[in-house]
Amino acid sequence: MPVVVVVGAQWGDEGKGAMVDTLAKEADIVVRFQGGANAGHTVIYKGKPVALHLIPSGITHEHTVCVIGNGVVVDPKALLDEIEALSSLGISITPERLKISDRAHLTLPYHRMLDAAREMAGSRLRLGTTRRGVGPTYVDKVDRVGIRVGDLKFPERLETKLRINWEHKQAFFNALPPDERPDFNAVLDELLKYAELIQPYITDTVTWLNEQADAGKRILLEGAQGTGLDVDFGTYPFVTSSNTTAGGACTGSGLPPTKINFVLGIAKAYTTRVGEGPFPTELQGEEQVKLREKGREYGATTGRPRRCGWFDAVLVRYAATVNGCTALALTKLDVLSGYPEVKICVAYRWRGEMLTTFPAESFILEEVEPVYETLPGWDEPLSECRSWEKLPANAQRFVMRLQELVGVPIATVSVGPERSCVLTKPDAPSIW
Ligand code: GDP
Ligand code: IMO
Ligand code: MG
Repeated sequence: MPVVVVVGAQWGDEGKGAMVDTLAKEADIVVRFQGGANAGHTVIYKGKPVALHLIPSGITHEHTVCVIGNGVVVDPKALLDEIEALSSLGISITPERLKISDRAHLTLPYHRMLDAAREMAGSRLRLGTTRRGVGPTYVDKVDRVGIRVGDLKFPERLETKLRINWEHKQAFFNALPPDERPDFNAVLDELLKYAELIQPYITDTVTWLNEQADAGKRILLEGAQGTGLDVDFGTYPFVTSSNTTAGGACTGSGLPPTKINFVLGIAKAYTTRVGEGPFPTELQGEEQVKLREKGREYGATTGRPRRCGWFDAVLVRYAATVNGCTALALTKLDVLSGYPEVKICVAYRWRGEMLTTFPAESFILEEVEPVYETLPGWDEPLSECRSWEKLPANAQRFVMRLQELVGVPIATVSVGPERSCVLTKPDAPSIW
């Protein structure tokens, strides 16, 4: 009964997509369990990068069934566009290969408007969201006025459901200039059109997934975003609106904790963040630009330049604890080639105190000064390395030190975006 959870251990974009795609070679099912089209997970297909937003990163393997779990918020337009884009690349998407939970909530066209309006309302409210309507969709879910994917199976009831949600948004609509207000009938017609197209994929995924787990199928639960963006454990309020951590894998899929066997945290060999919020190890000026260019750190969803800095062991140790990581996969080690010295943040200094745990308050994280340990770097490019043994001694030493500081085994080290670039450490715990 091997069920493996894959989660981000930093602020997203750790290389979860590439890792899930690699692990999916040996998986039967890949499930997204939270987030929405805010995610951008890159996989390499026929030599080219493909960014996935809602569809799980197992989709390029023909034998893999992909599931959009109940914890995901589904923008039907974004989903249909993604299905079309993947089909045009020759990736076949059929109801046998893609199942969408009847309990997942729908992102409506005006959820995007609400997201953007909040971002533009003033600098104090600005979070730097992806403006994909994800936050407002989760607000409606928790406020119990959401519309769910399963509602699309009953078109005759949709009008009433939409009316309830619509009434709930009156104050917002009234504040818009009249020519920008959405039209009820137009939104309803759009939903009815999506209902027809999405219907074949709608499944009771909770029952289906539990049956598959009980039958011994190999299931990968693919997290979006990362621990630093978790609504409970992240740098609140500079977070996304879901539980990105391992607990979210249960509530977002219906697979209970007792069925999970392995939690794999994904961390980059350095740190990045997109959007607002504290980032203790962020580099400044030229140094930041250098790392961004070396790592090609631009958002897969919005194209925004990512903020970049050194590896933060305080953050990743906290992520290992909160997720209960069995092991870590370290990605993008190749990007650090050419630095004479590499740094790791081992603690924070704050108002004369030494902090070794991740504080809850974002203002403290804004004020801390990172305490660095400096290790010798390596010059050799790593992208052609195909085994742990072939890595330069200083690269191995850096990885071993990270492992020691984080406190969980590093199972794999990646030196490029392709499947063949994932090197397994000799002492790695076996995932399946
Ligand atoms: P995700 O959101 O966690 O799936 O990560 P993204 O896809 O947004 O960003 C990770 C980027 O790094 C993508 O462009 C990947 O193709 C790329 N990538 C993943 N692993 C490696 C690696 O080990 N080395 C290099 N150079 N690139 C990698
Ligand atoms: P993947 O899955 C990095 C960030 C946004 C913003 C905050 C809230 O590719 O790792 P939201 O649109 O979710 O309300 O924005 O979260 N964010 C991400 N950052 N990677 C992501 O996804 C992200 N999804 C959201 O930049 O700071
Ligand atoms: Mg991403």
